[in-house]
Amino acid sequence: MRVAALVLAAGRGERLRRSLPTPSAEASPPKAFLAVGGRSLLAHSLAALQAAPALEGVMPVVPPGWLGRWAGAAGVEPEAPGLLPAVEGGALRQDSVAAGLAALPPTVEHVAIHDAARPLVHPEAVSRVLTAALVHGAAFLAEPVADTIHRADADGNLAETPDRSDLWAAQTPQAFRVDWLREALEKARADGVTGTDDAGLVARCGHPVRVVPGDPANRKITLASDLRWAEIHLAERGS
Ligand code: C5P
Repeated sequence: MRVAALVLAAGRGERLRRSLPTPSAEASPPKAFLAVGGRSLLAHSLAALQAAPALEGVMPVVPPGWLGRWAGAAGVEPEAPGLLPAVEGGALRQDSVAAGLAALPPTVEHVAIHDAARPLVHPEAVSRVLTAALVHGAAFLAEPVADTIHRADADGNLAETPDRSDLWAAQTPQAFRVDWLREALEKARADGVTGTDDAGLVARCGHPVRVVPGDPANRKITLASDLRWAEIHLAERGS
């Protein structure tokens, strides 16, 4: 096996939990196990990656303590072809990436990292970013930024307005040479840096990272309103 993916599902989803009415928030499972269109976010994400022909194996990274129950809770057949044994994630997103990387077969040369919280990714978009990573070593899906972005100073005043024409909002999957991603995670740990995605950590090592135009439907489920949006989108898409 040379090309594999990690699907990150180990986060609690605290922002989503806080956006739910109090009684449902208390009973809410980790975010990736919530359902849209009758299927968990994790099941949608795994299916989209399993449908990308270049990926030979897909590994779920599940919350600590969930190895015995993740498949039942997510409605996934754990022995399905193309699915690798799940691994437990860690406290930070990059700890979950490191745990998955450590558990991959040693033959894997390129890995795609996908957030289970992006259940609507198209298999063609997965293939696009993988192709770019196989050629260039590192690539991520992204959308051009539609809003004007300002940086504010500590006093709450506008400090800087970057040119919007070269700003991109990062999505997943992000795909990398395994040795580059390992180096990036080790350097982040040594420098005490917590990244919000893997592309940024790989770029800190001086490696080129290709921007691959993504898909507006590949939105991250962060708040309860995103779950409602995804329900509507799936109903319109007929899946
Ligand atoms: O919290 P956020 O939405 O940015 O998380 C992005 C993805 O990373 C989610 O799919 C979440 O389950 C995953 N994650 C993880 N381990 C963590 C934190 C987040 O696998 N410790």
